[in-house]
Amino acid sequence: MKYTQIIFSPTGGTQKAADALTKNWPDVGRIDLSAAADDYTKYSFDPEDVVLIAMPSFGGLAPQTALDRLGKIKGNSARCVIAAVYGNRAWEDTLVQMEDAAQKSGFQVIAAVAAVAEHSIMRQFAAGRPDEEDCRELSGYAASIMKKIEAGDRSKPAIPGNRPYKKAGGLGMVPQAGSACTKCGTCAKQCPTGAIDVQSPKGADKTKCISCMRCVSVCPQKTRKLNGAVLAAASLAMKKACSGRKPNEMFL
Ligand SMILES: Cc1cc2nc3c(=O)[nH]c(=O)nc-3n(C[C@H](O)[C@H](O)[C@H](O)COP(=O)(O)O)c2cc1C
Ligand code: SF4
Ligand code: SF4
Repeated sequence: MKYTQIIFSPTGGTQKAADALTKNWPDVGRIDLSAAADDYTKYSFDPEDVVLIAMPSFGGLAPQTALDRLGKIKGNSARCVIAAVYGNRAWEDTLVQMEDAAQKSGFQVIAAVAAVAEHSIMRQFAAGRPDEEDCRELSGYAASIMKKIEAGDRSKPAIPGNRPYKKAGGLGMVPQAGSACTKCGTCAKQCPTGAIDVQSPKGADKTKCISCMRCVSVCPQKTRKLNGAVLAAASLAMKKACSGRKPNEMFL
């Protein structure tokens, strides 16, 4: 019986929530769904295995890149917990989309969690989350989920969301390198979709970029950014929807 995290976390917030949820799991392995060059068909599980699948909510949906890669993994009836991590606006159809994708890959969904993490585009929203209070709450969820696993209970939770899912709308926000760019190639190597040309990293391929902000967060010169005016306008537009402390939730 093995315990594994299957994670898509471009800027680390999803990973933090996932770690809090799996703190009491022994010897946790990790499959990184953000590795553009990995061959995901090589991963498979057994019915006794336990897996946490965690992804951020992008526009209230799961990132298609992550779903496509998850679709190549063979679940073979392994038990799975799904976690959608969102930036204090809303997670809408993310969990039902993840549930459907996990089941299609052969996993048995036994629990679902929605957790808040700092907004990866507008970092002033949910800044610093998951914080201590979140980690305490997520540890409590982890304990309840472990009890269900130990009891051998494979029942499926009722997970809120719409089918058909809400319509996906691309953000179209593509970060650019500023004048301090040293062409170190870090952003190109770490872009989950291979959208940045390592020889010419100033921009990115608009048709491949999913606006995940990985390149912004890993740039050692802090010179890779979104257009300031666009970001300020988006922040203003999102202020009301992202205000207040949004909850973590568990469905068991
Ligand atoms: C393209 C994009 C779309 C997003 N859409 C939403 C959203 O609809 N609702 C929300 O609450 N947060 C949204 N967020 C914030 C992320 O869900 C949140 O910051 C998450 O923690 C990012 O995960 P990561 O740190 O693992 O990359 C979005 C972030 C990005 C990059
Ligand atoms: S990580 Fe930053 S400095 Fe390095 S190539 Fe990318 S934009 Fe330039
Ligand atoms: S270029 Fe786009 S897809 Fe690639 S890391 Fe940057 S924001 Fe993400």
